[in-house]
Amino acid sequence: MSPRTFDAPPSRMARAPGRVNLIGEHIDYCGLPVLPMALSRGVRIAFEPRADRGTRLVNAETRFAPSFFTIDAEIPPAPAGDWSNYARAAAQVLARRFPDLRGVDALVQSDLPIAAGLSSSSALVVAMALALLHANRVTVPPLELMELLAQGERYVGTAGGGMDQAIILGARAGCASRIDFHPLRLTPTAVPADWRFVVAWSLVHAEKSGAARLAYNERPRQCDEARRLVATRLGRRADITYPALLAAAPVEELLEGAAQALSDVLARRFRHVVTEGTRVPQAEAAMAAGDLAAFGRLLDASHQSLRDDYEVSHADLDRLVELAREAGAAGARLTGAGFGGSIVALCRVERAPGVVAALRERFYAPRGAADDVGRHVFLAEPSAGAEVL
Ligand code: GLA
Repeated sequence: MSPRTFDAPPSRMARAPGRVNLIGEHIDYCGLPVLPMALSRGVRIAFEPRADRGTRLVNAETRFAPSFFTIDAEIPPAPAGDWSNYARAAAQVLARRFPDLRGVDALVQSDLPIAAGLSSSSALVVAMALALLHANRVTVPPLELMELLAQGERYVGTAGGGMDQAIILGARAGCASRIDFHPLRLTPTAVPADWRFVVAWSLVHAEKSGAARLAYNERPRQCDEARRLVATRLGRRADITYPALLAAAPVEELLEGAAQALSDVLARRFRHVVTEGTRVPQAEAAMAAGDLAAFGRLLDASHQSLRDDYEVSHADLDRLVELAREAGAAGARLTGAGFGGSIVALCRVERAPGVVAALRERFYAPRGAADDVGRHVFLAEPSAGAEVL
């Protein structure tokens, strides 16, 4: 423990896992279900309650400078991209709910790759929130907390959906969870024992609070506009939701409406959303049935749609996906917001070493990163949600 942070070693620890989204990408903000699972890697915060409203943060990685702020309903942000903004986000949203909230001294550690599409940022928000709640002996019911923190994270300027906070708080070990929105609920499905999800980082940082932010935020706006125009075209109410639209008409009819009502770009965004929306329940059924080949095909279709219609992929993600498939994965796709970050590939347990070896030789070695393959590639273990230890 850093002597600068604590007089005595802290007695409490909040832990929040990262997540890998298996399928249902860029549709949570459209209110459509998604299917992520939590990782065993994550963020840990050792903390000690303070008697005042100050909060002192030290990061075990010294490239992240220490930070101090006072808890309040309006916390001034650190400069854009500063890591402490995720902790400030949690503190501000909780301070609005609990006006007397006191602060903590906190030491933050993480074994999650940062800006890799694995939700290190939301893991920090959630771990910080749990630390503050615990230190103040107050609670928020889980589903409410998930929604509160999703809304709170918008403090950093990203118009994200609610997937990350929900799975980080609500995951069950051994399972992926379908997350439905409005109302929020989680439905776990056991991951078959002989399936392995290989996660591989593209070596390209996808900084959602930085350069990728504008490109990310543009997508929810486009989806909204497309939905309104298609609904009007089909004689539906302009404020109909995506789930209601999908329930009301077959996908073909929706796509036909889109072709008539939308520009080329909006039609492709819309096609991604509605086709991805149909893949999620199919993937959930494939997982429940242990149908690896079917799940793999859905991953492939999802990647193609994200690459061509939604335009959130990157040449290095496409390459990783291609190599994973060639090495025997049943399917692969980019995971998370895209614009860099990671892929997730599915294979049977006995194929996993071959997939990892192929990525090492054909992706990381040519980029001078073969020695660090153990950090860049790992097998995702479906893990439990966040907790205070
Ligand atoms: C980010 C957001 C999520 C979700 C994904 C894309 O992780 O935080 O809400 O939109 O991108 O699926």
